Amino acid sequence: MLENLEKIKAQFKEELNGVNMKDEIERIRVAFLGKKGLVTEALKDLRNLDVEAKKVAGQQVNLLKDEIEKAIVEFQKTLEEREYQKEIANTERYDFSIPSDVTVGTLHPITIVQSQIEDIFKTMGFIIEDGLEIQTEFNNFEGVNIPKNHPARDMTDTYYLENGQLLKTHTSAAQNTIMRKYGAPKPGEPLKVLFPGRCFRNENIDASHENTFFQLEGMMIGDDISISNLIYFMKVLLSEVFERDVKVRLRPGFFPFVEPGFELDINCAICGGSGCPTCKHSGWLELLPCGMIHPNVLRLGGIDPDKYTGFAFGLGLTRLAMMKYNIKDIRLFNSGNLKQLRQFTI
Ligand code: DAH
Repeated sequence: MLENLEKIKAQFKEELNGVNMKDEIERIRVAFLGKKGLVTEALKDLRNLDVEAKKVAGQQVNLLKDEIEKAIVEFQKTLEEREYQKEIANTERYDFSIPSDVTVGTLHPITIVQSQIEDIFKTMGFIIEDGLEIQTEFNNFEGVNIPKNHPARDMTDTYYLENGQLLKTHTSAAQNTIMRKYGAPKPGEPLKVLFPGRCFRNENIDASHENTFFQLEGMMIGDDISISNLIYFMKVLLSEVFERDVKVRLRPGFFPFVEPGFELDINCAICGGSGCPTCKHSGWLELLPCGMIHPNVLRLGGIDPDKYTGFAFGLGLTRLAMMKYNIKDIRLFNSGNLKQLRQFTI
């Protein structure tokens, strides 16, 4: 009997050595430990022995059974590990040290100028707001004191949606929503908001007209805001963008939502003010319409014009980017012409 067990053990070792697939091991398990397996049979054979021999042999058979069970579990693990290693070896490898030829994107010139101005205003305590592109007629017109049949509506014809809403013609369309969102400012804590955005007008496109362009609007409302605040902030804005101390001049200008309204001109960067074709020999460039917010606009925004005043300005962001980078044709901005668009940096 004991000899027989030794034989079984040797046979098991031999068979296990030849195994290199997971399902083969199952066959071996059945051959040794299954219902009619060699070890199971040996267990059955015990009944033919006398008591003493049964005791000794019984222990041995059980030891062998344990040994085989353990060896099978171990071997299964080894096989799984081997298969895993094989799988890894066959998977595609990437060499991250090889230089890539993927070109890196660049910021659009409008984005560059916009974030530059946002940074300047953030340091002066302004909140940045995102005006919607689709607006109600009220927000775009009535809310900023442009009633129905006002000639300004003609000058800024736009795209109307079937539901009566429209693509906003100017960033001023967000003024009413912003005033209502923040409400009347606390004493000594003026409301300071900057709201850049894409605007639309029904224009015939040429080198200086686009149906889609960007503006950047700002508002400051408080209990003690005057034209000198307006001029101060406009000078900071322009000198940061043009990286020099710019001379500005205010001319009266009419916009229904401000009273008084101004056109703010800067002295021409090309000729330094002596006159050249760019500034049409005037020495000045028209850049920044602005003014003190009209009492009607404040009232419609839920802010009492007897207690509060404020200024607003509407910068032509597209125009400013053209001046800053000396871009002659406005169509470049929406052209998707990467060769040209990627050459602008801060
Ligand atoms: N919304 C005007 C436009 O699109 C620009 C403008 C002018 C905005 C004067 C203002 C302002 O806030 O005070 O032409």
